[in-house]
Amino acid sequence: MWQGRFSGKPDKLMQEFSQSVSFDQRLWREDIQGSLAYAAELQRIGILSAKELADIQRGFKQITDEIESGKFQWKVELEDVHMNIESRLTELIGDAGKKLHTGRSRNDQVSTDFRVWAARRADDLDAAVKALLSQILGRAHETVDVIVPAYTHLQRAMPVRMAHQLLAWFGMIHDGSSFLHAWAQARALSPLGSGACSGNSFGVDMQRLAMRVDGTTEEQIDAAAKSALGLRNIGAFKSAARNSMQAVSDRDFALDLVYACAKCMTHLSRIAEDLILWSTAEFGFVTLGDAVTTGSSIMPQKRNPDACELVRGKTGRVVGHLMSLFTLLKGLPSTYNRDLQEDKEAVFDATDQTLACLRVMALVFSKESFKVNRQRIQQHLDSGAGYMEAMNVADWLVMQGVPFRDGHDITGRLVKYVEQKGMRFADLTAADLAAVDKRLKPELLKELSLEALVERKQVYAGTAKARVLERLAELKEWLK
Ligand code: ARG
Repeated sequence: MWQGRFSGKPDKLMQEFSQSVSFDQRLWREDIQGSLAYAAELQRIGILSAKELADIQRGFKQITDEIESGKFQWKVELEDVHMNIESRLTELIGDAGKKLHTGRSRNDQVSTDFRVWAARRADDLDAAVKALLSQILGRAHETVDVIVPAYTHLQRAMPVRMAHQLLAWFGMIHDGSSFLHAWAQARALSPLGSGACSGNSFGVDMQRLAMRVDGTTEEQIDAAAKSALGLRNIGAFKSAARNSMQAVSDRDFALDLVYACAKCMTHLSRIAEDLILWSTAEFGFVTLGDAVTTGSSIMPQKRNPDACELVRGKTGRVVGHLMSLFTLLKGLPSTYNRDLQEDKEAVFDATDQTLACLRVMALVFSKESFKVNRQRIQQHLDSGAGYMEAMNVADWLVMQGVPFRDGHDITGRLVKYVEQKGMRFADLTAADLAAVDKRLKPELLKELSLEALVERKQVYAGTAKARVLERLAELKEWLK
């Protein structure tokens, strides 16, 4: 493509070192779309004849077929997806293919392709988020009446409805998911027409290019141009880039997409960790099904939560991609630098891993896989371990007019008493209460259930049944 200025060829080692076609061929569809948009513009401004444009369209149709059927020959010597496709086009249709790159640079080309690809990927990720959320919601509906300990410092703290915990996980993923933001950032502006860094000499209309990249027709563009809202109203990108130098080196959309992945993964990882704990013999709140667990090659009794462990493990890798992108960008001088080619693998892998993790976690939370062990949970509660009932005592004393700090002290002494006697709160008698403090009246005994404690959490974000059911009803709307 640039041989004119050179007498020799790049070293074999250099070719291998600098090629990106092995990974950026993933952008082929977006590359062809961008080229079709650009060719249409070249025809509109008179650089291409109608016949040449038709040839280009025909050539791209054939290339599409070749790639889809796996017959396309990707060549390392042609460096990247852009030159592979352009060179094949010229092979197929001759001179018209050579005119396609008039006024265009791979710099505006690659950032346009990558933005369109990133927006599509953000869409896929958002759909996978929704699929996972609907599974979690399904399990929440089934577990409103199951009470489990909630932990602080990983010590039993307060009893909650299992549905409340599931809705907490739902909230983390729902509120923490910024794929729609990443989508909007990728679609915010179209770099096409920025050329290498300073713009285009041939009079292309960047606004029209911005509209056309996603396959919008000329008729739609003409109609929109005449409408009150103008060209901004339709098409792929919200607008054309406003500065060619900024446009060719802007990778904020890539940062935003990988950030959205890293944040999503961080939440998935915490949820995975909760489930790993919940599925141990020590907790045993849930059993994860055969579809998402694996056995051991030596210990026949084992059922390992590998799906969850891999989600937790891959999180480090995705967060790492965010760091590598930031580090890639921080020292770059203005406009395009070849370093930018290193952006792609980070974004590809971050999104691949996140998409896979979202899908696997949806399996984990499926009805078939997420089995709640009600009996085992009841055994835990009946054991009285962790003395979660104590909060009932402190609450009750407050209602009797005892200042909370005094109530805390009295309750603390009662816990000590229970602990020293090796008994449970459920075993306490009126005599035990009186032995600790005279303010602990016998009527307190019927206030000690965990259910009662759960039901006092009537606050808006609380775990009382009515609140959980309200939240589930709100989310029914969301599911639509
Ligand atoms: N493969 C390159 C990349 O991904 C395309 C742009 C190359 N531009 C250049 N001026 N060498 O960044």
